[in-house]
Amino acid sequence: MGEKIFINNEWKFARNFDISMTTGDYDDSSFEQVRIPHTVQEVPYHYIDEKVYQMISCYRKVLNPEDSWKGKKIFVTFEGVAHKCIIYVNGNPVGKHKCGYTAFTVDITEQIKFGVDNVIAVKVDSNENLNIPPFGSVIDYLTYGGIYRDVYLEIKDNTYISDVFAGDLISSRYKEDGTRKAVVSSHIFISGLDTDKLEVAKIRQSICPKGKNEYKVIGMEDIDDSNVVLGHCTSSGDVELHTEFDAGHIKLWDLDTPYLYDIKTDIIIGDDIVDSYVVTHGFRRAVFKADGFYLNGKKVLIRGLNRHQSYPYVGYAMPASMQRYDADILKRELGVNAVRTSHYPQSQYFVNRCDELGIMVFTEIPGWQHIGDDKWKKQAVKNVKEMIVQYRNHPSVILWGVRINESSDDDELYQKTVAVAKKYDHTRQTGGVRNIKKSKLWEDVYTYNDFIHDGIMQGCDRKENVTSQMDKPYLVTEYNGHMFPTKPFDSEKHLVEHAIRHANVLDAVAGEKNIAGSFGWCMFDYNTHKEFGSGDRICYHGVMDMFRNPKTAAVVYSCQQEEIPVLEVCSSMNIGEYPACIVDKILICTNADSVKVYNSGELVREIKSSETPWKNMIHGPLLVDAQDIGFTGEWGKEVTEFRFDAIKDGVVVASSLKRMSSNQGINILVSHIRLEDKDSYDVAAVRMEAVDEYGNRLRYFNEPIMLKATGGVDIIGPAIISLKGGIGGTYVKTNRSSNEGMLIICAEQIGNAQISFTIEY
Ligand code: GAL
Repeated sequence: MGEKIFINNEWKFARNFDISMTTGDYDDSSFEQVRIPHTVQEVPYHYIDEKVYQMISCYRKVLNPEDSWKGKKIFVTFEGVAHKCIIYVNGNPVGKHKCGYTAFTVDITEQIKFGVDNVIAVKVDSNENLNIPPFGSVIDYLTYGGIYRDVYLEIKDNTYISDVFAGDLISSRYKEDGTRKAVVSSHIFISGLDTDKLEVAKIRQSICPKGKNEYKVIGMEDIDDSNVVLGHCTSSGDVELHTEFDAGHIKLWDLDTPYLYDIKTDIIIGDDIVDSYVVTHGFRRAVFKADGFYLNGKKVLIRGLNRHQSYPYVGYAMPASMQRYDADILKRELGVNAVRTSHYPQSQYFVNRCDELGIMVFTEIPGWQHIGDDKWKKQAVKNVKEMIVQYRNHPSVILWGVRINESSDDDELYQKTVAVAKKYDHTRQTGGVRNIKKSKLWEDVYTYNDFIHDGIMQGCDRKENVTSQMDKPYLVTEYNGHMFPTKPFDSEKHLVEHAIRHANVLDAVAGEKNIAGSFGWCMFDYNTHKEFGSGDRICYHGVMDMFRNPKTAAVVYSCQQEEIPVLEVCSSMNIGEYPACIVDKILICTNADSVKVYNSGELVREIKSSETPWKNMIHGPLLVDAQDIGFTGEWGKEVTEFRFDAIKDGVVVASSLKRMSSNQGINILVSHIRLEDKDSYDVAAVRMEAVDEYGNRLRYFNEPIMLKATGGVDIIGPAIISLKGGIGGTYVKTNRSSNEGMLIICAEQIGNAQISFTIEY
């Protein structure tokens, strides 16, 4: 297959412009110059009017085909256009697509003219009244609009491989070094195969560790009755092949060692390689059973979070680096082993990064509670096919969600979605997220949003109370969320209660031996419709804020991993934060063996990890009695100094100091400072936190910060921001004006900072 030629730059864009109403040439001089990923309308952080991004808009790009494309097939792929669109080439409609969350490809060969300017134009409809999922009723998230994922061309010969779905068969025996024998079992789809040349056509496969480019041939076969599925080639030369080639000894894809391989498929006619197609593959066994989830034969408790794909200001429109960054945050900062892409398929960049990092993904079709008419349902079924065909080569994907999230039972629809899922992927199980108990199970796994925990009730319901099918697997797909909205600027008690509720559910699920795991609601706060949220169009349901700064609850997750030592004393130790100055218990999150507490230098208590009230989790948080450590909280008493040392294998691995502070500062965390403006612009995330000189968050520092960008970067969103609950952030975006850029941050009282970026083109 030809290289992807990205065409994300130099688009022209107009709001409220309906190209289907124009005839002939139209004046685009007033159109804005934009780059993809693009949002039709930037929005404020709070108090968004959700009408502003609902419109018909027009994107337009001039294309100059190269002479070398002559006689070849020319395809354009749109990775994501929200939500319905028509593609025009030189004024002629050539394709359309409904669904803002799946990709589509249009063959534009016939329309392209050589030696002249060609125009690709896109009519985009981002209205929420479209008769397609997720629309039709109220939805708890914003749906934004625009060409918000990459656009690229592919130039192919007439005979080409349109798709390869690589599965595997893995031997249960392994060598000393942990490698196993495996067979690559592929479905290969070829188009335009000349039936007269069948006799000299061959298919060949090679493998190599991902990115190494040292392929080893694993098999070559004639294309004949033995491998052609359905035994024939269609008149247009479309053929599906099934091959099984011995890959030798391979390393498994696992959570700590996510080994990936490139599998290259060549179609050879005579002596010529007419097309090659590379897919990334991870060899692994992912199976949900009645008693839990097994990865490569080992029982693994799924500990995940739900992720929306939205960002402040730009909604869905963020480039590769920001998509990948979210996966990094999930793995490295939140220590989870899984993510649910609620409530739609998300960026390939995000899922690729989950493949690379060893994060398991549960991905599902778009939708939220509402099921529409027959046309709408037809689209939902189509979405299942598109999702599966587009994401089935990701080893990280372990389960397909083939129901509209939290919809009622609809036997006819869900029998269809399951059948389609099985047709396009026989290797994976299906789920479908419900909020109803004992509903009809057409899928393999009963997936259920369990909101039983309200702070008092148990952390999760028993499996037998939720499903009558005890012989089938069971997975909790949401908990908490709206049960306890929590803002970063809420009181300490509220933030701690939020953390405790997350611990309660994680612990309860870990204690049930027949639940495969759980996904908390949710990774970060998100903008929402007026029917939801806190009135400012924000659902404060995240364990992080919208900029991905952790709230207290985030640490409950962070400390479930072993790589990075974690110690978080979830209190600022200020009595005035509590009614009548009564501080009862202090929550400490750590993955160490014990925590030593020093009051004014004197050891007053050592709390062992075994003392945790949350006994089932790997690292249950600790609770220490404020009285026990001499934190008596008397009004008018001078503050004392506390030090907390986390001890692991006898050594101090982390410390936390709570004492009188006289200096404040700003902690700045930048996603990356070497930006790459190549296939598109790049964005860096800049997270900010007001801290005292001991690194403790100043949770009521809500002051303004002035931002200024110079050189090769621009600020996304406002240039004056305020921290909210001591945290906040901004994004900078490359502008192609220079290979150096700077962000200047001026925060009176907590200090100024400068971040220098280099930009590669
Ligand atoms: C669920 C829903 C999510 C979110 C969550 C809030 O019912 O599936 O999208 O709204 O509630 O807790």
